[in-house]
Amino acid sequence: MRTQVGIVGAGPAGLLLSHLLHLNGIESVVLEARSRAYVEGRIRAGVLEHPVEQLLNDTGVGDRMRAEGLPHEGVILRTEGRDHRIDFKGLTGKHVMVYSQHKIVQDLIAARLAAGGNIQFEATGVSLQGVRTDTPYILYEQGGRQHRLDCAIIAGCDGFHGISRETIPAPARQSFEREYPFGWLGILADAAPSSEELVYASHDRGFALLSMRSPTVSRLYLQCAPDEDIANWSDDRIWGELRTRLARDGFVLSDGPITQKSVTPMRSFVVEPMQYGRLFLVGDAAHIVPPTGAKGLNLAAADVAVLTRALAVWFRSGVADLLDTYGETCLRRVWKAQRFSWWMTSLLHRFSDHSPFERRVQRAELDAIFGSVAASTTLAENYVGLPLIL
Ligand code: APR
Ligand code: PHB
Repeated sequence: MRTQVGIVGAGPAGLLLSHLLHLNGIESVVLEARSRAYVEGRIRAGVLEHPVEQLLNDTGVGDRMRAEGLPHEGVILRTEGRDHRIDFKGLTGKHVMVYSQHKIVQDLIAARLAAGGNIQFEATGVSLQGVRTDTPYILYEQGGRQHRLDCAIIAGCDGFHGISRETIPAPARQSFEREYPFGWLGILADAAPSSEELVYASHDRGFALLSMRSPTVSRLYLQCAPDEDIANWSDDRIWGELRTRLARDGFVLSDGPITQKSVTPMRSFVVEPMQYGRLFLVGDAAHIVPPTGAKGLNLAAADVAVLTRALAVWFRSGVADLLDTYGETCLRRVWKAQRFSWWMTSLLHRFSDHSPFERRVQRAELDAIFGSVAASTTLAENYVGLPLIL
């Protein structure tokens, strides 16, 4: 089989890239290790930055998002029983869109297949060959047979645990990493959200986040040990801890059946460079952020916007300037999002090795935000999203 761009991974990065390339008249084939049902059912993030919402609307895949998504004009920071609302609309004129990542995956798969797109599910044993030549190709197994996909460009959209990043020889790449001494225990519950906007709570017992998926489905998280055994957390224990950490006079946390629970470790990670010959790393394959800033999906979309623009020029004219600087362009935004995500995480979580002094400084930083339009504006600008291409 031959195509212009071989894409490894049918997550948000791979699917959005295939969709935008198609709109630019560029053919691609997406190779996904898992089944369609698996990728469409994977519960992940849920907040779209304003530029990403616009991108989905502008490229014809925003219908269900407009119908089912929840526009949010602010978030609430809660500490010691006090709320401070970050007014996105008032400070930046923008909002964010709360819309499940798995619905974006479903919407993009539907759009690609309706447009005759080529997505090969359950394609395993993927290996990238000849990435330093002008004729790279991908080998994979599917249906008990070996296959070969010849292409001009390979996009590694296979996430943090994929094989693309490792295709770049170790001496040719540098990783930057921060492991956090905690993780998030996340639940989906059939419970009406107890707040109209997201609540980020900083509590002495640990961080908690109240989010949502719809008027009847809540998404909540609480800080836990990175290797927490979910078996130790009954539904009652989860609800009780969430009530404690989210407590504020007059606030009642409604509960309901928990339909999904999991523990996610937290890390910051970036690999440089994000390109090697004809291989281009996109999204989680190149970088991971702690979810506190809700940046993971949005960073993937920004990488896709940069790569699409570069490939459209290269395939049309052969001019490679934008392609040669793909990684450099992406990393300008990646590192700004890394800083913001690290800062939000450091600001709101309990660090067991914090001295009393450091805990006071943490509280003072929150107070500084609460008391400063400039500080609140900086948080709002980063949360609603920087321009996709800086
Ligand atoms: N071969 C083929 N497919 C693979 C391979 C492989 N060797 N390894 C991984 N994949 C697939 C995974 O099954 C997954 O569907 O690549 C896809 C990668 O998708 P994501 O991990 O979602 O990464 P990305 O598309 O960059 O989206 C980033 O997803 O994980 C969240 O928090 C993250 O919100 C962020 C978003
Ligand atoms: C979510 O709704 O899953 C969510 C929202 C905000 C975050 C992280 C996750 O910072």
